[in-house]
Amino acid sequence: MSRRTPLIAGNWKKNMGHEETAGLIRAIAENIAGLDDVDVLVAPPFTSLTRAKKEIGDSRILLGAQNMHWEKSGAYTGEISAAMLLDVGCTHVILGHSERRILFKETSEMVDLKANAAVEAGLNPIVCIGETLEEREQGKTFEVVRDQLEKSLNNFRIKKTLPLSVTIAYEPVWAIGTGKTATPAQAQEVHEAIRQWIEDNFDKDVSIKLRILYGGSVKPENAKDLMEMPDIDGALVGGASLKAELFLPIITFGEPR
Ligand code: 13P
Repeated sequence: MSRRTPLIAGNWKKNMGHEETAGLIRAIAENIAGLDDVDVLVAPPFTSLTRAKKEIGDSRILLGAQNMHWEKSGAYTGEISAAMLLDVGCTHVILGHSERRILFKETSEMVDLKANAAVEAGLNPIVCIGETLEEREQGKTFEVVRDQLEKSLNNFRIKKTLPLSVTIAYEPVWAIGTGKTATPAQAQEVHEAIRQWIEDNFDKDVSIKLRILYGGSVKPENAKDLMEMPDIDGALVGGASLKAELFLPIITFGEPR
């Protein structure tokens, strides 16, 4: 395991109304009391954020949103700003998830604007990248990942500073919601390349300290082997984050508490 504090984040996607949100957060909070060597985050849909914040109370659960817009305010129907997310108690925001990139045509250039606006407002962005099955089969994984990093973190490259408030999530598209997890070795190989890219584009110190999460069919059964990899610092969990009996054992890396 890496020396960075691991982060286990649940991306609830378009699931969980107020009551389900409250129940799941209570179950997580009760069970992670006393666990201080791992950070835990939930990212409910926008409409459940306020309820989630209320239930989190003074527990250590971190609150994230699943998207935001880069402009501070204005005529952007249906969009949410960083300040609005801070206002309801979010500390984090997931940006550039492959579902947003593929289904909603979000580009790396848009992710870059969002990541920059998030950091400027004081939110911690979790920037998602990852290749499709076709790209992997064509041997383009590293090329695609590097291109996404370059474009999605362009503002930071121009400023020559990558803040440690940024987290990167490597989520191979072919492993999301498919039950097909990348093997620990496949994931580690890409995480190592991401860390090297950070060192090459910024500096060694930030590359050592910045967290890189793995996402894609993470479950209690595979969490431990993935988390043991030296460059994997936690997980971005989709389906298995919606049930306490699946999410809790991932938080403890498959080990009983
Ligand atoms: P699954 O864990 O359901 O594969 O989803 C992963 C994901 O997209 C997290 O952001």
